[in-house]
Amino acid sequence: MKQQSREEQFFMSTEEPEDIQVTRTTDEFIYDNHGKRYIDFNAGWCVGNLGWKRKEIQSKINPAKIPDYIAPGYHYKGWADLAELLASIAPGELQKTVRATGGTEAVEAAMQIAMLYTGRAKFLSVEGSYHGNSIGTLSIGDSENREQYKNLLPNCIKIKPPLDDKAADRVEARLKKKDTAALIMEPVICNLGVMIPGHAFMKRINVLCKRYGTLLVMDEVACGFGRTGKLFACEHFDMEPDILCLAKAITGGAVPMGACMTTAKIADKVLKNGFQFYSTYGWHPLAVGAAIANIRYWIKNKKKIFGNVTALSQRFTDRLSQMKFKKEANVRILGLAIGIDVNDPKYAERIQQKSLKKGLLFTTQENTLTLFPPLTMRQTIAEEGLDILESCL
Ligand SMILES: Cc1ncc(COP(=O)(O)O)c(C=O)c1O
Repeated sequence: MKQQSREEQFFMSTEEPEDIQVTRTTDEFIYDNHGKRYIDFNAGWCVGNLGWKRKEIQSKINPAKIPDYIAPGYHYKGWADLAELLASIAPGELQKTVRATGGTEAVEAAMQIAMLYTGRAKFLSVEGSYHGNSIGTLSIGDSENREQYKNLLPNCIKIKPPLDDKAADRVEARLKKKDTAALIMEPVICNLGVMIPGHAFMKRINVLCKRYGTLLVMDEVACGFGRTGKLFACEHFDMEPDILCLAKAITGGAVPMGACMTTAKIADKVLKNGFQFYSTYGWHPLAVGAAIANIRYWIKNKKKIFGNVTALSQRFTDRLSQMKFKKEANVRILGLAIGIDVNDPKYAERIQQKSLKKGLLFTTQENTLTLFPPLTMRQTIAEEGLDILESCL
């Protein structure tokens, strides 16, 4: 039976896959079953930030040298090593980490911690956002899901963009009631076509959360690990989140992992209040090896990686601002998180499909082309990809 009909028969896929059968990934390329090479301006949607098959990470994923599995109820040196490393790179006083298998679980843990710490049950988040696919994380995401699922959590209130001073006023009016457990958002909203909040907004919510006893949760599942030109995007706004959620690029894509970090003070209180978060595969030994190698690589090469990000970011800005889109495009760039609003979803889709045929990969979100190239992409390859994009407008 053909691959496609087997997929139709046996998969419950919620999205139409692209017409490409992936067989191989290296550096900034993906290859299909005919050996065709694609330039990857997607990086698995913020997963392969250091490029694919990075040897420094790959060499540490060696099943022969580590236990097959460790149940959460035992000690494992790798867990302490990784948690300590995360604490050494995280902003503010974030120190203690919950082990998770991915982003959804990390955000779900954050929601549970916030409820137990504050004794409150309400959440505030940004309208239209995405934080995962569990009932809890869908509840703080796009309100359209309310129509679809009847059992989402009540009391999840959304702030409508733009995220400016007026939006901060609305946040204050809400938080004043002192019944909101947490304000949860991506500091740079990759899931809303790379929406970059205003500095004034971010500064105020940082202060407001502290004033009214609401925990500030930064979901850095997509924008963490350098995507926006800082290791964590909340550093652009001098924020000190109470909780940080990580996944995707934490292992560079080699194996799945998630992490939810908080302060010692919050961790101690919620543990006393009965916080229990059990994840059978949370921090599997293979994932721990990959994450440690990934973070060590970051620590050693941070300057070089960010040098490349700055140069490429400028190049994307220059080239994209000169390209002739059908209507004037609104280009949003921070580091290598790139959103190009072309004002028309069908046009966006057409550009993306043409680019795919010519060997360039990226995604679209409604009117917006979203580009997340590896942070280590060579300048010549970026130019080649930009040439393809320009030829498809
Ligand atoms: C900001 C954000 N949070 C959470 C998630 C959920 O992560 P996962 O798919 O690893 O469960 C995603 C996934 O795209 C995301 O972009």
